[in-house]
Amino acid sequence: MPCPALPDGFDFTDPDVLHRRVPLPEFAELRRTEPVCWIPQPPGAAGYGDAGYWAVTRHADVKYVSTHPELFSSYLNTAIIRFNQDIDRDAIDAQRLIMLNMDPPEHTRVRQIVQRGFTPRAIRALEERLRARAEAIVAAAGAHPGPFDFVTEVACELPLQAIAELIGVPQEDRGKIFGWSNKMVAYDDPEYAITAEVGAESAAEIIAYAMNMAAERKRCPARDIVTRLVAAEDEGNLSSDEFGFFVLLLAVAGNETTRNAITHGMHALLTHPGQWELYKRERPATAAEEIVRWATPVAAFQRTATQDTELGGKTIRKGDRIGLFYSSANHDPEVFTDPDTFDITRDPNPHLGFGGGGPHYCLGKSLAALEIDLIFNTLADAMPDLRLVSEPRRLRSAWLNGVKELRVSAP
Ligand code: HEM
Repeated sequence: MPCPALPDGFDFTDPDVLHRRVPLPEFAELRRTEPVCWIPQPPGAAGYGDAGYWAVTRHADVKYVSTHPELFSSYLNTAIIRFNQDIDRDAIDAQRLIMLNMDPPEHTRVRQIVQRGFTPRAIRALEERLRARAEAIVAAAGAHPGPFDFVTEVACELPLQAIAELIGVPQEDRGKIFGWSNKMVAYDDPEYAITAEVGAESAAEIIAYAMNMAAERKRCPARDIVTRLVAAEDEGNLSSDEFGFFVLLLAVAGNETTRNAITHGMHALLTHPGQWELYKRERPATAAEEIVRWATPVAAFQRTATQDTELGGKTIRKGDRIGLFYSSANHDPEVFTDPDTFDITRDPNPHLGFGGGGPHYCLGKSLAALEIDLIFNTLADAMPDLRLVSEPRRLRSAWLNGVKELRVSAP
């Protein structure tokens, strides 16, 4: 039964809809009237066969689905909405080697291994190097005589450097990894003229590069994270293939997300001058979480029902797809006071920007928060008078709340 609250043919995952504005006004209507709502897809629509999906828009329901992987699978159709659009079944099978698209118990095994690389100690160990990187990035941007693009000059740099630092990619190889990562996620946007094939080739290059790293460490162990994850496979470590797919995931999950959080955060601070003044004066520790809530870089992921079940008063059939709209949940007035107000002192802030708290909850959350803190602290010191030159140009994407250009200037 199509959702009466929406115009005919409306689809949240249509890249032309999602990139209009986040949060979309339609979410507020659905949260009130039909929080679990069937969105039919046109017959033959790529990625969905001739069916559709359930749009889940309330905070409580997004959490419920995320924390019940036995009912809602990440594996059956993978987690990325419409990602299956124009790639073949083999490519979809390959995506299932990425932990984001696994279900327990396989997911539990891989997650237990890789989280060794994300302990508070491991993240703290990166802090000083990342601070120096943040300072160098901001200094280089500040050397521009006129307006510059905040996305390419500032926001893109630190997330990639952080991943490269984390897994120890040597300086001379970072350019290659950066190029491949950037090509992988942009192909919904015609401006980049990147085909799905080029995206897939870039993914294959990253996997091959990382598998090589793993093989090298198996031959010649070092005191680094790669060695900790892959050495001595028989003692419950990752195989070289698994490591390859893990690095591929980091290149997408850690890169696009954080860069967009930083860009939206900058835009929000500059368009809320009182908040930017407050930030410069007090540097509240709560700012990074509010930036992620406000930005919600991952607008949505999907799950697939493993059996008939009930959700929000609706009967979900085995095999139905469910869209988890984090960007809607993060503006749910049942949970957030004044949800449409950007407030960097918001506390508590139980936003779902890093996921709904289930087994797939963002592994890089602490690293992302550290990067956001470092970049805004540095900007507040070095470019306190930064101003906006133009509105953000948004990325066309089915699931990423992305920005491809934000022109700013430091007088
Ligand atoms: C998973 C968001 C930064 C690594 C996720 C999920 C979301 C997310 C929504 C899925 C959660 C779920 O399904 O319940 C974000 C945002 C970020 C960010 C908004 C930045 C602001 C990072 C960084 C890294 C990272 C910096 C690592 C370098 C991962 C990994 C997963 C993941 C490995 C998969 C976890 C699993 O399947 O068990 N992230 N992320 N993320 N994220 Fe992040």
